[in-house]
Order: sequence, then C-alpha cells, then structure tokens
Amino acid sequence: MADTFTITDNRTGKSVEVPLHDGGISSKGLRELDPNLYFYDPSYMQTAACRSTVTYIDGDAGILRYRGYPIEQLADQSTYLEVAYLLIHGELPNAAQHEKWVFDITHHTFMHENLRKRFLEGFHYDAHPMGMLVSSLAALSTFYPEAKDIENPESRNKQVLRLIAKVPTLAAACHRFSVGQPFVYPDNNLDFASNFLSMMWRIGDKYEPHPHLVRALDVLFILHADHEQNCGSTAMRVIGSSQADPYSAAAGAAAALYGPLHGGANEAVVRMLQDIGSVANVAAFIQSVKGGAGGRLMGFGHRVYKNFDPRAKIIKKMAYDVFEVTGMNPLLEIALKLEEAALSDDYFVSRKLYPNVDFYSGLIYQAMGFPLEMFTVLFAIPRMSGWLAQWLELIQDPEQKISRPRQIYVGHGERDYVPKISRG
Ligand SMILES: CC(C)(COP(=O)(O)OP(=O)(O)OC[C@H]1O[C@@H](n2cnc3c(N)ncnc32)[C@H](O)[C@@H]1OP(=O)(O)O)[C@@H](O)C(=O)NCCC(=O)NCCS
Repeated sequence: MADTFTITDNRTGKSVEVPLHDGGISSKGLRELDPNLYFYDPSYMQTAACRSTVTYIDGDAGILRYRGYPIEQLADQSTYLEVAYLLIHGELPNAAQHEKWVFDITHHTFMHENLRKRFLEGFHYDAHPMGMLVSSLAALSTFYPEAKDIENPESRNKQVLRLIAKVPTLAAACHRFSVGQPFVYPDNNLDFASNFLSMMWRIGDKYEPHPHLVRALDVLFILHADHEQNCGSTAMRVIGSSQADPYSAAAGAAAALYGPLHGGANEAVVRMLQDIGSVANVAAFIQSVKGGAGGRLMGFGHRVYKNFDPRAKIIKKMAYDVFEVTGMNPLLEIALKLEEAALSDDYFVSRKLYPNVDFYSGLIYQAMGFPLEMFTVLFAIPRMSGWLAQWLELIQDPEQKISRPRQIYVGHGERDYVPKISRG
C-alpha cells in the first residue's frame, strides 16, 4: 500500500496526494490545494516544525536518546561536557577532541567584570536568580557584538563555547548576589560540576565537594541537556529564525524555561510537597487535585511521555546515593507516597500521567543545599548545550525560514471608530 494521504476539498472536488515522509505529512499539499487554508493546531500538538537529528523521544515507550545514544548509557558512563560535545557536534569526541573541548570550555568561564559589577549588582537584593539569569544572558550579547555574524561558523563556535562555559558562572553569581556573598571566580583546575559547586559554596580558601555529589550533579546535567522541541528549545528556534544572535535567543529560551509548566516545575514540586506537609495528607491532596481545587500534581504528566519519563527513573535511583551523603530529605517520604497513590488512581492512570524529570530532581537539589529559587537555574545550565545544538541545526537547515505561524481570525469584521464621547 502506498505511503500517501489524499486530501480532498469537498467544496471544489480538488484532491492532492501527499506522501508520508519520515512519519510526517508535509503541509505543502494543503498549500497546493488552497494557499489560504491552514491547519488549526494550538500549542503545536500535532505539528512538527523541523527535521532534527539531535534528540529522539518515544513517549509511549519511555525512550530518550541523544544522537542515538540511550540516556541510561550516557548517564551511567559519560560526563556532561562529553554529552554537550555530542549534542553540539553530533558525535562523541575522540581523546584529542575531548581534551581540546574541555580546555576550551574551561578557558571561557570568566565573565566580563562590567557584567557583574554594573549589571548583576544593579538588581534588587531579593531578585529571583532566574530573572537575573534571563537578563544577563541577553546582556551578554552586548559584550560580544560579533555574535550577530551567525553565518560565520568560526564565530558560531566561539559563542557556543562562551555560552556553555559562562552559564554556570552567571548562575552562581546570581545566587551569591542574592545572599549577599562575594562572587567566587571560576577555578580552571576543577571539572565543570566541581567548578560550579565551588562558585556556589566556597567561603575563603577551602572548599572540597563530596565526589558523590559532584557526580550526581553531573548526571543531572546530562539528563537535562536536551529534550527536543520543548517550549524552551522552540523559543530558541523561533527567536533564532529571525537571525537574532544566540545570546538573545538563549535569553528567550531561558525565559520560556522559567515558567512552572516547564523548568519551573522542580521548584513547584518542592513547594507542593512542603504544603502537603505529611504523608497523612497525601490522600486528601490527591482528591483535591482530582476535584480541580488542588491545582495540578506538579512533577507529573508530560506532553510527550505517556509512560515513565526515563530520566525520572534514573533520578529516583540516584536520590538515594545523594541522601547517603546529605542525609535523607524528609519530603522524600511524602513524594514516594504521592507517587504510589497517583500511580494506583484511575484519574492519573487513565490520563497516562507518570512522574516526570522534575518530580525527584528538586528533592536532590534541596538535599544538596540549593535554595528553591535556584532549581530552574540548575536546569538552565546544562540545557544551554541543547538549546545551542537546536540553534546550530536551525541555522544550517536550508528548509527553515523565519518562524511565522498563521492564525484563524475570529474577531470583529470591519467597524467604524467611535469617538470617546459617544461610547456610553
Ligand atoms: C507537563 C504538562 C504541562 C503537559 O500538559 P499537556 O500535554 O498540555 O496535557 P493537558 O494539560 O492537556 O492534560 C491532559 C489531562 O491530564 C490532566 N493533567 C495533566 N497533567 C496533570 C497533573 N500534573 N496533575 C493533574 N492533572 C493533570 C489535565 O487536567 C487533563 O485532564 P482532562 O483531560 O480531564 O482535562 C502537564 O502534564 C502539567 O501541567 N504537569 C505539571 C507540571 C510539570 O510537572 N511540568 C514539568 C514537565 S517536564
């Protein structure tokens, strides 16, 4: 049987045959039939806006792969910086490529002093670090005006290195500012995760992070590095499609991540667990979610996964390693009870609502001492490599143009202006 679809316009009797290509149906067929006809698809539920080779998700089977490599293998055997290289360049690095990549990232971690002194320190003392991160990413574009030369591969590479390398420095600076502590400069002798922890927590000369916590953070970075066309990556691509520089596009992507339905969910999960307060209140909370009064069960459900989020499985296992070092997070007991209750409740089962990446990650961050406000920032640090991989793909894709969806206009027809005095 032919892999085609026939679309017939019953108003005119005209038909077009549209081939199925890699599981997608090109909208060109519809355009041929009638250029003023559009698919109405709010939130892009059924629309593929690009062809991509970066990340593969099978939401029904709970599969996630970066460039073909299963997330479980990467989390078990790789490091965040190696994964970032994989996402950006498409292949795992050999030893020499890896050494150069790590060296280059390590030597782009400093930020311009004026960005910190004149810009970051201008925020109100209790500014949310995510708001500070979004704005400082945009501000970076003013320090690197050559980033506008997006057609130049050398310039693109430079901005990619800078963004991946500087985002932990910015993130830690936002935190230090918000708690009134002096900024800690990057330490080129440390690996990526240890350096971030050092910039977050070092007081005076001494700081030695526990190796299990360094590894746990690095694995969390791997798990958060990319997730194909989510809200943040879509923002990155939409802004990038106007040929804006990558700093401005990354600021837009980070702004999208800030929302509680996206990267803000890990913070919302911990707040929800704190509000529930005890295992005894779980059943009542589940009832209130089902009844609509309790809001959503944060950290549950996903637009793509209709099965366990494979990242949630890895994180749940890892949580116990972290708690061995930090001591148990008392909210874990409530989280486990909540998960058990939801997974045996028809409301959640019938809607295929399973724990997502955010359900347990917040508990780990909290046990490691990160304030709630930093959780989404912790998500943004590794997601930078995913945003950039998506951006590079977009910039080099001859099929892409400026993003410009159409609308179905349902407002007033033409009407005459009424002077204020006659408006009643
Ligand atoms: C992730 C999320 C935004 C996906 O939303 P979506 O694909 O648009 O799904 P919908 O909002 O259409 O939800 C489908 C149904 O499940 C319900 N639902 C979805 N997520 C739910 C949740 N976390 N708690 C309770 N009900 C939920 C909806 O109310 C809806 O029910 P209905 O069919 O009776 O109206 C959504 O699941 C959510 O808000 N989850 C909580 C926030 C979160 O953890 N985000 C992190 C994502 S990694």
